[in-house]
Order: sequence, then structure tokens, then C-alpha cells
Amino acid sequence: MYRYDEFDHAFVTSRVAQFRDQVARRLAGDLTEDQFKPLRLQNGLYLQLHAYMLRIAIPYGVLSSRQLRQLAMIARTWDRGFGHFTTRQNIQLNWTKLEDAPAMLAALAEVEMHCIQTSGNCIRNTTADPYAGVAPDEIEDPRVWAEVIRQWSSIHPEFLFLPRKFKIALTGAAEDRAAIAFHDIGLRMVKGRGDNAGQIGFQVFVGGGQGRTPYVALLLNDFLPREHLLSFLEAAMRVYNLHGRRDNIYKARIKILVNALGADEFRRQVMAEWAKIEKPSIDLPAEEYQRIAKYFAPLQLATLPNDDAAVAKRRASDAGFARWLRNNVMAHKVAGYRIVNISFKEPGKVPGDASSAQMEAVAALAEQYGHDEIRVTYQQNLVLPTVALKDVVAVYDALVENGLATGNTELITDIIACPGLDYCSLANARAIPVAQAIALRFANPAVVDDIGPLRLNISGCINACGHHHSGNIGILGVDKKGTEHYQITLGGSPKDDAEIGGILGPSFPAEEVPDAIETIVGVYKAGRTSASETFLAAYRRMGAKPFKEALYGAPKPAAQRIPEGV
Ligand code: HEM
Ligand code: SF4
Repeated sequence: MYRYDEFDHAFVTSRVAQFRDQVARRLAGDLTEDQFKPLRLQNGLYLQLHAYMLRIAIPYGVLSSRQLRQLAMIARTWDRGFGHFTTRQNIQLNWTKLEDAPAMLAALAEVEMHCIQTSGNCIRNTTADPYAGVAPDEIEDPRVWAEVIRQWSSIHPEFLFLPRKFKIALTGAAEDRAAIAFHDIGLRMVKGRGDNAGQIGFQVFVGGGQGRTPYVALLLNDFLPREHLLSFLEAAMRVYNLHGRRDNIYKARIKILVNALGADEFRRQVMAEWAKIEKPSIDLPAEEYQRIAKYFAPLQLATLPNDDAAVAKRRASDAGFARWLRNNVMAHKVAGYRIVNISFKEPGKVPGDASSAQMEAVAALAEQYGHDEIRVTYQQNLVLPTVALKDVVAVYDALVENGLATGNTELITDIIACPGLDYCSLANARAIPVAQAIALRFANPAVVDDIGPLRLNISGCINACGHHHSGNIGILGVDKKGTEHYQITLGGSPKDDAEIGGILGPSFPAEEVPDAIETIVGVYKAGRTSASETFLAAYRRMGAKPFKEALYGAPKPAAQRIPEGV
């Protein structure tokens, strides 16, 4: 993995010292909360419903064991012994005390981590495919370019005060595991065709996002030679910085600009800006790219057999293991190795929450069996990207001991949920208890397996941090005359077939949500053409009507309807 150079170390350490001084002045009353707010937000320190919350960036979702252990230590020493992994490869600590924040930042700096640019109208943590570098369907390892973007976007003087926050995601694989269609800029590595044959470049998407105005990103550039990534990003950012709306916070994201101008006009403006840029002044020299790429050189792995007798024996005798193996353990690009997904979605637990003990257990597994590598996923879980097949049984047994062996990757209980009203000052409704109630309703693994792939996402308000718009089933907390209600959407997808879900009908109170989800699943199971037709495919074929009828009853014939106003 990438290691900080002297500049990074000096910068992060001096920022810790600066923030220590700012906190001291706030605690002494020399700074008012209004004066202090922008300073703390520049260091990822939010003020939530009950306490401060510290958002820590995990660049493109890559962690070493040492870093994960340090996160565990920080959570145990200064917070309440757990952290919350987010969809954007951050971890949030929900009970931070202001006076402890400088020590927490210093502890992060020791392991080359920080909270800079995890808040504010700047370029946030760049996220990437959690299987980067090991996925069999990968064209090229996107972490190299994610690191290039990290360096370019960190304290970029021109882009620290954008009209609004800006999020970039990238993948180098055929399957999108980073939700690139729902980012301000989404990048996918592709092989060139025609005139570009033999080259690798990026497809560039722009203007995706959720919130109150959800959009799937539009194609900005079908093939950008990879060596021009930074100059092209610079051009796109300049157009946004200049024309993005600063007059209205709800219309300030790039998606609004792109959709107001249309993709063609936005592209024309970016191309005109790009033509003005002297590319060598911004694009990376080949030697610098090579220097960074060395940190991501593939592991030197001895090829191993792709079958293992002990794994086969255990699979035959232990249904829990067999299920976990089927759902959580994925093919690796090197024979004899596997990608292991670690679920933080045990039914009844808070989705994405990890205790310090669990973080330490995963760190130990990564050291012993996983070449010291850990990844954070869009789905709020962790991944050991490289485990020898022969070690998979030992990894499973250790995960069982730590409550981390639920075999539910991308199934109905692998719920994405935001903190909602339990923590968040912007929430309309709680998200966590609803997620827990649904997961417990579907606690029977056989039922979950029978339902098959199904993404269920919950957000506590229209800001859509739980990406409910892109859930196959989405749940949005709304305030209905002072009570928490939940609106259901169906048909969303965060993947290559990205789509925004459609609202089914009136919202439900919390206690009715699990029944409603069970009804929806029942309609799917009754209507699917075969066990292999997924929920999303069946919904697309069947349309919303049977689901609406099951939930709200068939529409009354015209004669029975009561005229409006009566
Ligand atoms: C509890 C503290 C949090 C606060 C105050 C907060 C606030 C917000 C706000 C205001 C937005 C909307 C921005 C806009 O539309 O311009 C947003 C977007 C977002 N947040 Fe959060 N958030 C919090 C936690 C989280 C967590 C825990 C996650 C992940 C589980 C998350 C993931 C996201 C994502 C992915 C978006 C972008 C949604 C989109 O595509 O438009 N946030 N957040
Ligand atoms: S979706 Fe709303 S409730 Fe949930 S974390 Fe985001 S801002 Fe808070």
C-alpha cells in the first residue's frame, strides 16, 4: 500500500498541531462556536444530536492491520469502543469529546491517517472498488489512480471552496462495486477501441448523486487516455467551480449544473476548458506514475491448487460454512486464493458498526492469513482481499468467534443504513432500528438464500446517505405530522444497470415496515419465473402494479371512488 512521503508526514503532523491550538482556544472561550465550526469541519469533526462525531477517511478503502488496530485503539480509548463504516469508505466515531479530538488526530497521524476533507465543500475521500488489484474481472488496478487523485485533490488550492461537496469513485473492473453512477464523477478503466486500441483509459461519468434530486451520472467522456486524467478532471472541476450554483444549497451539486446544461453542453464547456490547459503542467510525468504504481505492485503469490480437501469436507458437513463460502467468498485473480467478505450485518446488530475487539480480530486475520491487507466496501463491510483457499476454514472459525461470519453478502439482510435519528441532527426518522427489525424478520438463512440477491437500503432523511434511491428496495424516513414514517421505493440499482427506484405509495409507520417488506418479497417470490430470476429482474419485468396492489389493495373501480371534495 502507499506510504506517506516526507511532505505528507509534515503536512498531517502540522495540521494536528494547528487543530490542537484551535481546540484549546475554543475550550478557553477565545473562539465562539461560529468561529470554530469551519475549523473543526476542516478536520472532519461534526456536531451531531448528542455529541461530536469524527469522520476519518480511509483512502480508496485500503487499510493495513496496523491502521485497523489503531482505529480500534482510538475507538476504545476516546470513544465508546466501536466505529461505523460508511458507504464512502470512511469510519465515523459517534461519541467524540472535543477535548480528546487532538489526541485522536495525533494517533491517526501516527499511522498515516487523517480526517482532512471529510467535510466541507471540497473533494472528499476518493472511493474505489474494494476488490481492486485482486478482482478477476479487472482491466487495471484503480488504486494507483485513486492515490494519484488523492494527492492531486488534497489541499488543491483551487478546489477547497467549491459550490458544494464533491465525490469521486473509480473502478478498474467490469462489474461496478463502487456505485460510480451515483458520484459527482465516476471513473471506469476501459480498454481502448478503434483509434485507441492497445491503450487503457477512463470512461468518465458526471453528475450522479442521490439526495432530494437523484440522478444517474451521464457519460462525459467515452475514452480518456489515462495519462490525461488529472488535466481532464481539472477542466471539469473548473467548469463546475465557475458555474455551479452558489446561491442555493439544494441546487449547488454538479448534478444540477450538468442536468441544467445537458450532457452535450457540459461536455462542450469541459472540452473547451481542457483545450486551454497546458497538460504537462498538470498531468503526472511517467516517472511519478511509476513511483506511485510500485506501492501497488501485485503480491508475489505462489500459485496453489484451486481445490482444497479440507474446505470440501467442511462444506459437506457444515451448512453455515457452506453458506458463508457460497455468499461471502469470491474468486481471486490468482488460482488458489480467494477474496473474503466479512459481514458487519449480523441480524439484530447495527449495520456497519464494528467494535474495537472485532476490528482487532480482523487485523489479526489480515496479518496471519491476508497479507496484511483489508478493504472497506460500499456495502459497509470489510474484505480480506487475498486469502489462500487452504486458510479459508481457519478464517471462518475465527470470524464465527467474533460474530462476523454471517454469510449474507448482497442479500436482503446485508442492509445499508445511515445513522438516522439515533445520531444525526438532520434526520427525520430512525434508520438503525428499522434495519434491525427487518434483518431479524429475515433471520432464517434458508429464507434469505431463497430470496437471492437483493439490496435493501435505508436513509433517515432525503439527504440519502443510506443510498435508498439505489436500493432494489429503498426505505426513506419521513416526518408525517410529527411521527416517523417510511416511504418505500422499488427498482433502484447502484451497479452497471444503475437506476433510481420508484416510490410505491403512501408511507408506513415503523412497526409496519417489516410486514411491508415481507409482502413485497412475497409478491416477488410468487411472480418470479424461476429461482434464478433476481428480485430486480422480476420487478423490472412485472412492474410496480402487483407490489402496489399487495401493499395498498387493488385500485377501486371508478364508480366506487368518492369524488374529490366530498
Ligand atoms: C451522521 C452524520 C452525517 C451527516 C450530518 C451527513 C450529512 C449529509 C448531507 C447533508 C448530505 C447531502 C449532501 C447533498 O445532497 O448535497 C449527505 C450525503 C451523503 N452522505 Fe451523509 N451524513 C452523515 C453520515 C453519513 C453516513 C454514516 C454515510 C454512509 C453510511 C453517509 C453517506 C453519504 C452519501 C453516500 C451521501 C451522498 C448521497 C448522494 O449521492 O447524493 N453519510 N450526507
Ligand atoms: S440520510 Fe439524513 S439522517 Fe441519514 S445520515 Fe444522512 S443526513 Fe443524517
